[in-house]
Amino acid sequence: MRALPLILATAVAVPSIALSQGAVSAAGRTVWSGVYSAAQVERGTAAYAQHCASCHGDSLAGGDQAPPLAGGTFLANWNGQDAGALFTRIKTTMPLDNPGSLGGATVAAIEAMILARNGFPAGQADLPPDAAAQTAIAITPTRPAG
Ligand code: HEC
Repeated sequence: MRALPLILATAVAVPSIALSQGAVSAAGRTVWSGVYSAAQVERGTAAYAQHCASCHGDSLAGGDQAPPLAGGTFLANWNGQDAGALFTRIKTTMPLDNPGSLGGATVAAIEAMILARNGFPAGQADLPPDAAAQTAIAITPTRPAG
């Protein structure tokens, strides 16, 4: 019977580990989780061409003044932030020559297109068109393990 305390301890510990991992993965959505749809990217590509490409370039490489919206520098700037912060940045400060002019659905579509061009995968559902609904989506440049 000397093994019994150990078995009991294991029986108690395992479910609590499983529970905390469940909580982490529920709260741990990232840009790798398939957070936008392919159809949304199509809408975003058209809106980007109309509202953003003149400064940030057709390929998101940036321009004379405007920084790139794809690649290492962009991802380094946003590493550790969440998608809601990127949404708010675009919605409130861009296009630089007419900030605040775009509706939430248009901003979310452009954001989806930016995520796609940075190599993050598409999913089934649209990226939601408001910042609060996006705060649970972490921007992590490298795919999380597992
Ligand atoms: C008139 C030129 C212009 C237009 C049009 C424009 N931008 Fe910008 N954008 C800039 C400049 C300049 C900066 C850097 C200075 C600043 O942030 O104000 C910038 C910065 C940004 C940043 C921050 C980049 C980073 O690495 O943190 C994002 C994101 C962004 N723009 C997205 C957009 C999107 C999306 C659109 C279209 C809806 C857009 N911009 C339209 C000029 C522009």
